[in-house]
Amino acid sequence: MSDTMAQSEFEDAFHKAAERHERVWIFIAMLLLAMLLIGTLIIVVLDYGVVVKTDAYGTNPATAATTPPFADTALVRTGPNAYSVHMLARLWAWTPSPLHVPQGAAITFYVTSADVLHGFLVQGTTINVTAVPGITGYVTYTFAHAGTYNIVCNEFCGIEHQSMIGRIIVDPERPS
Ligand code: CUA
Repeated sequence: MSDTMAQSEFEDAFHKAAERHERVWIFIAMLLLAMLLIGTLIIVVLDYGVVVKTDAYGTNPATAATTPPFADTALVRTGPNAYSVHMLARLWAWTPSPLHVPQGAAITFYVTSADVLHGFLVQGTTINVTAVPGITGYVTYTFAHAGTYNIVCNEFCGIEHQSMIGRIIVDPERPS
């Protein structure tokens, strides 16, 4: 009799302890998930920023090619060694192309699309921006080396997707 009592007391204690451990580990697992979620949000905000959709970022795909700022295909000087250009993607070409930029200058590309999703990827660089109709994305890059760089579309956009190639020609720095 006392043996069975001892046995059931032991089982009660065991189950209580086991349930406590389960609760602790469920809590730890949920804590890890919450940290993962919050960490992801923080990294996304710090890395990409929170883009508030204002008029400055909005474009009308139907008129993007014929209205400012994307109608202007010129490279614009914005500082002592900084330039910007508005790059328009459409089925199946890049404008402006070929684009001449100086070596060693910070070039800011503003990118949008006049029709469907395209991808603005410049081979041999870290430039990779999705061209979204209605939205302007941007990236700043400094070409350290002169030469010809290919712009390749990296979002499937239809029958001529693979031939949607533009050119950026980086002109060598003049010796001063
Ligand atoms: Cu444009 Cu693929």
